[in-house]
Amino acid sequence: MPKAELHCHIEGAADTELVMQQAAIYGADMSPFIRDGAFVWHDFTSFLAAYDASASLFRTEEDYARLAEHYLASLAGQGAIYSEIFISPDHAMRSGLSPRAYLGGLAEGVRRAKAASGIEARMIVIGVRHFGAEAVEAAARFAADCDEPLVTGFGMAGEERHGNPRDYAHAFDIAREAGLGITVHAGELAGWESVAAALDHLRPARIGHGVRAVENPDLVRRIAGEGIVLECCPCSNVALQIFDGFENHPLPQLMVADCKVTLSSDDPPYFRTSIRREYEEARRHFGMDDTALGDITRTAIEAAFIDEKTRQALLARLSR
Ligand code: ADE
Ligand code: ZN
Repeated sequence: MPKAELHCHIEGAADTELVMQQAAIYGADMSPFIRDGAFVWHDFTSFLAAYDASASLFRTEEDYARLAEHYLASLAGQGAIYSEIFISPDHAMRSGLSPRAYLGGLAEGVRRAKAASGIEARMIVIGVRHFGAEAVEAAARFAADCDEPLVTGFGMAGEERHGNPRDYAHAFDIAREAGLGITVHAGELAGWESVAAALDHLRPARIGHGVRAVENPDLVRRIAGEGIVLECCPCSNVALQIFDGFENHPLPQLMVADCKVTLSSDDPPYFRTSIRREYEEARRHFGMDDTALGDITRTAIEAAFIDEKTRQALLARLSR
């Protein structure tokens, strides 16, 4: 089953083994955040604390090259032919690395992975919502000016209950005017109003999660009608208790309502998931067969922030 992933935070893709290797290099104590080979957290705030502590152990260009190479190699091993990774210049700066060097390292990792397995990957620069509008604007400006062909999108992650999408509209205008694809996290930690406001003010082609749109049938109809693509991450949602179990996850309902949905792993080791597991759980809990899962991959590639020639080449690999 060929797979494609549109929504994975590269810092959140570092597994505990790799993080512990970094901790050994930099002499860091990760015992509050990693126990028995697993990340320790109990809610979104403590998840972010473990995430930020792990991210702080990637400090050089080569650290990030290895991280991207390691994650993309693992994806390719699970049958993924395409990946978009979210990259956060703010996390690099907090690690003492310039956004430019960070991007250079990640791009090198993407190229190494492609040479080894053929996996195609692009990068989406994200701003962190709870760092404020100015920081998100700086991230957008970096994305717009970075002149790296592997950067094809801009988005925003972080604490969705912070601020109002209106405050970030200028950042998204900068990215859109630079020709970048637009996505934004909404409808994960906050309800349908957050998705509606993101659509109104930020005009994304895709929404990260978006699943709580299900709280408002008119909004679901709007998403379907406008062809907005939802980057669904069911294992993340269940782990963070956004929904009480897969049986209460709205993905099947959104599909029935003709919304375009895709599957991604978000921050895989934190949520004990992987792109493979996302597809498996969709088969188990949402009744998807090979055809339905193939359609999920096709939707992701159709919604990818990528040039048309590469998109057609990827679609051709699906029909083979
Ligand atoms: N950053 C990393 N993972 C995230 C998530 N699931 N939601 C919002 N911001 C994030
Ligand atoms: Zn996310």
